[in-house]
Amino acid sequence: MDQPKLHADQLRSDPRVAEAKRLLRAALAEHTASLTRRDPTPELAGDYDAMLTQFAELRGNPLYYPFLGSGIGRGSLVELADGSVKYDMISGIGVHVCGHSMPELIDVLTDAALEDTVMQGNLQQNVESLEVCRRLLTMACRQGAALDHCFLTSSGAMANENALKILFQYRPGSNRILAFDNAFAGRSLVLSQVTDRPLYRAGLPATIPVDFVPFFDHHRPDESLRDAAAALQMYLSRYPGAHCGFMMELVQGEGGYRTAPREFFVALCKELRAADVPIYFDEIQTFGRTLAPFAYQMLQLDAYADMVTVGKMTQVCATLYGNAMNPKPGLLSQTFTASTTALLAAKFILDKLESGGFYGPEGRNEQIHRRFCERFEKLNQKRPDVIRGPWGIGGMVAFTALDGSPASAKRVLHELFAAGVIAFAAGADPTRIRFLPSLLAVTDEEIDAVCEILERTLLRLHEE
Ligand SMILES: Cc1ncc(COP(=O)(O)O)c(C=O)c1O
Repeated sequence: MDQPKLHADQLRSDPRVAEAKRLLRAALAEHTASLTRRDPTPELAGDYDAMLTQFAELRGNPLYYPFLGSGIGRGSLVELADGSVKYDMISGIGVHVCGHSMPELIDVLTDAALEDTVMQGNLQQNVESLEVCRRLLTMACRQGAALDHCFLTSSGAMANENALKILFQYRPGSNRILAFDNAFAGRSLVLSQVTDRPLYRAGLPATIPVDFVPFFDHHRPDESLRDAAAALQMYLSRYPGAHCGFMMELVQGEGGYRTAPREFFVALCKELRAADVPIYFDEIQTFGRTLAPFAYQMLQLDAYADMVTVGKMTQVCATLYGNAMNPKPGLLSQTFTASTTALLAAKFILDKLESGGFYGPEGRNEQIHRRFCERFEKLNQKRPDVIRGPWGIGGMVAFTALDGSPASAKRVLHELFAAGVIAFAAGADPTRIRFLPSLLAVTDEEIDAVCEILERTLLRLHEE
């Protein structure tokens, strides 16, 4: 017997919807075709400055960049409301993986616009929530990680908050957490303690004791492993049974795009296993960007993944964990899980990442990385005082510019912005420059054009 067709399916397959999408695509193609990098339009400067001033007053602080998008772009190019068109090499700090105005994504967002509600919630959600949970878990367990559950939420900070609640409930009596030096975990009251930046918790009460373990130092690999193992041992024996888990970024994002070899993590994970302390990989910035969908897969740490959080590129954020940790009813909930657009986009993006040849030593992420690095290395050989590595990993690209001080990083970023490239800072000592390109959109030509602007800008600033 034929399945009865839902009204929703009838709407989706209505030829008028297909025709509307065709018209939207045609209009989009026409209006994006001539977008190329461009300086601001002088006639728009007055209104643009007035908007920025008013926004600064309303927010109570100026924006980091004078960036207000107009709502259109093409690939890595984005148009601002001052008429300028820039190369977006930071993609909303790793969120806009499809770049700007991607036609296929606009189709998906049109489907989302036809759904009945703007937001999806815990009490009432549409079928896409199930689909996104299923896909995330399938990807996460592909190499054997024992993750059974996926709880969706609307920000990375909430995914981490949910993970901490689960861990504390799972380890009754625990009241502390382990994390690495230079960790970044998010902006809530609790996570601002786990984040290793005093400025980000200035004036806030101490909500949770955090024991910081030194991260790998590639200048002194053996000693740094010994230091980290000794610090971990010291905390485990000083506070037996008190840690809910060890929260790790396998590639430190805000901390400066540092990573470590597998042996470093394995040594610590073995200690944690022996002490029965859960291992928690925060993949909010790394998900999708390294040489496997998850950084723990790239490093073959699947057996140690007790708790995993994702966000940014997934559009919807999530906490993944095993059966043993399933929390008691009542612990987790919230009004919003995500917007309908975010859920449909998440499905589309996960499909693309799985099928698009992004991973492995010859995958697109590595190709993107290499294309940047070859240019950086050439300049470094001639001018090591202008640019230095390490360069990050996969779609997390970084370098130290000029003297690496916070002030010169800020100057480089603002000069790059004015010259048409949007990047951001990472880390404190040195303060590095990072690129998080739109992996599904960025082209080799765009990378070359960005490197040209970067080289010119750095050399000019060095002379000044
Ligand atoms: C590793 C890591 N964890 C957590 C977060 C917090 O995510 P969100 O800003 O979506 O709350 C971030 C954001 O940059 C991050 O990089």
